[in-house]
Amino acid sequence: MLELDIRGVSQDIIGGENGLNIPAEFENYKTRIADIISNLYKRKDTPGEGLQWMNLGYSQETSWYVKEYAALVENRFDNILVLGIGGSTLGGIAITHALLKPYWNLLSKEQRGGYPRIFFLDNVDPDDINGLLDILDLKKTLVNVITKSGDTTETMAQYMILKDRLEKELDDDYRKNIIVTTDKKTGILRQISEQEGYKTFVVPDDVGGRFSVFTAVGLLPFALVGINIDEITAGIRDLDAQLKNTNIYENIAAQNALIHYLLDTKYGKDITVLMPYSEKLKYVPDWFTQLWAESLGKNKTTEEKPIKAGPTPIGAIGAKDQHTLMQLFNEGPNNKVINFVRIGEFDTTLGIPQIFQYTGIGYLGGKTVNNLINAEADSTQATLIDYSRPTITIKIPKVDGYHIAQLLYMLEMQTAITGALYNINTFDQPSVEQTRNYTYGLMGRIGYEESAKALHDKLEYV
Ligand code: PA5
Repeated sequence: MLELDIRGVSQDIIGGENGLNIPAEFENYKTRIADIISNLYKRKDTPGEGLQWMNLGYSQETSWYVKEYAALVENRFDNILVLGIGGSTLGGIAITHALLKPYWNLLSKEQRGGYPRIFFLDNVDPDDINGLLDILDLKKTLVNVITKSGDTTETMAQYMILKDRLEKELDDDYRKNIIVTTDKKTGILRQISEQEGYKTFVVPDDVGGRFSVFTAVGLLPFALVGINIDEITAGIRDLDAQLKNTNIYENIAAQNALIHYLLDTKYGKDITVLMPYSEKLKYVPDWFTQLWAESLGKNKTTEEKPIKAGPTPIGAIGAKDQHTLMQLFNEGPNNKVINFVRIGEFDTTLGIPQIFQYTGIGYLGGKTVNNLINAEADSTQATLIDYSRPTITIKIPKVDGYHIAQLLYMLEMQTAITGALYNINTFDQPSVEQTRNYTYGLMGRIGYEESAKALHDKLEYV
């Protein structure tokens, strides 16, 4: 199971100006936290609350459909190409990178156990898209278009390009190379899928994009490349059994939520750093960035009172970012909470050969890279403590489907509880919609002329 070590935020360790009196705070907040947790679980099945992501560990139906389809297309494709943006791709990128063998797309088919390569297009950079299209054999590529709303500009542009190319290469057969994950009823892509006869999968109601990784949004690409999705759902279920617990002393998501909330509101530590010591987990901070930023960055409370909520998320990767960010984290403004993610056991061991006797490097010989990365994490935390900086360690025994699912689910629950502490709507993103509307206007979508005009006025375009 996942573990949380919160000693590094204690005032006994980093002093009273920056650290918390944890026993006193837990005692002060235990009733509020219990109310928040029981309220979340009470409301989770209520339509419109945006809490269906709390049920995803139990959704046997999605797993069944996904596995059935993956079995049907096994050996048919050499490549999976996922199209999407934001919550439609960030979780998929994070988990496939973590669970597939390193350098997956460079391995032979045999080394990949017969499973396809996987690519994600999650932007609209022409050079990037053209570059990928230049190397992909589209006849052997299964394109999974993912968009909850079904009309996101970037994703629809990618889809239109791919549909056109596939049609040119495959004539009428191109439809077999496109699958769609979207809302079950609404959105242009749903309409198109029905007209075109694409195989479709559903993003369930009341699961926002950034909470959708354990729907078909993530599970389908995972199954297509041979990831065991039952391990993933089992991990969520087992952790959920613990996170239901309304007792703050036994609930790690609640503890981390309260700590971040208090360190921000009491001590101005309004930057949350997520720092895995693992290359496999290097895209988890990107996923977390969206989750934390879009969920908590709000300017009004649920009672419409003005607030400027939202700690700023920053990703860092150990050990390498010790050589980029750590000077700032140690000596710059003391406004950050650094969350380490530590791995109990790496998949492999790598020895450092004893080939030099120089004092400066000889000590490395005979040790392992595993020893080294762990020593780096310990040293970094010790230094942060020396500078009175708050640190937390999230420990996962190993990077497998069961535990990475727990890591992401814990962070989702932590986000929901933190949002409730700020008393904001964690599950909307009004300003993202505003940018979408300007883009629609600028690109000439009918009905968005006012948005285009407002944008031109603001930016003084001709
Ligand atoms: O969290 C969210 O809902 C958003 O950030 C979406 O993930 C993002 O905008 C992509 O939207 P869609 O899946 O509708 O294409």
